[in-house]
Amino acid sequence: MKIRESGMPERDMWEKFFNPARILASLSINSQTGDVAEFGCGYGTFTIPAAKVIKGKIYALDIEPDMIRITNEKAKKNGLNNVQAVLRDFMAEGSGLPDGSVDYVMLFNILHLEKPAILINEAKRILRDGGKLGIIHWNYDPTTPRGPSMDIRPKPEDCIRWAESAGFSKSARHDLKPYHYGIILTKEEGVR
Ligand SMILES: C[S@@+](CC[C@H](N)C(=O)[O-])C[C@H]1O[C@@H](n2cnc3c(N)ncnc32)[C@H](O)[C@@H]1O
Repeated sequence: MKIRESGMPERDMWEKFFNPARILASLSINSQTGDVAEFGCGYGTFTIPAAKVIKGKIYALDIEPDMIRITNEKAKKNGLNNVQAVLRDFMAEGSGLPDGSVDYVMLFNILHLEKPAILINEAKRILRDGGKLGIIHWNYDPTTPRGPSMDIRPKPEDCIRWAESAGFSKSARHDLKPYHYGIILTKEEGVR
């Protein structure tokens, strides 16, 4: 089932809110990064810039056929062969990726969902030891031009608490001006 308040505005409007290359660099997605899983790829706003810089493949999951189509079209237009866009309900079915199989999981603008622990635990399952979890979300500020309603919008400290409860550590916060914050965490060796 689609998570709450996950509808997207028009693509042109959405993509004005971010500088994806700068955000990805801040969150350590770079030429050293192997395989990546992205939960809720939307328009591929971050998928395509990530695919351009990583050395591995990116699995871009979304429940909306239109989002998968748009992401695939963008990958083709950019000549990228390391994007695997997957139509999937990750809340009902998980990611379908094997245990310990990816280097990095992207949870971008998604942690306002009803049960964040489900997604964070799935991220932990598929990450290799030492793998990274990258989170971004709208600042906890009612004046941002978009973003989930304030009663369900997570604060950075909420995201860190949830991830640490699942066994992630070494959290580092980033101010992704003008409207977002970012967090990177690490899956420690032996955490199951
Ligand atoms: C707010 S958008 C964020 C898109 C992208 N991460 C970004 O930041 O540009 C959330 C996306 O999650 C997708 N989504 C919502 N519930 C889902 C589910 N249960 N399984 C897979 N995708 C889901 C929506 O279709 C939407 O594209």
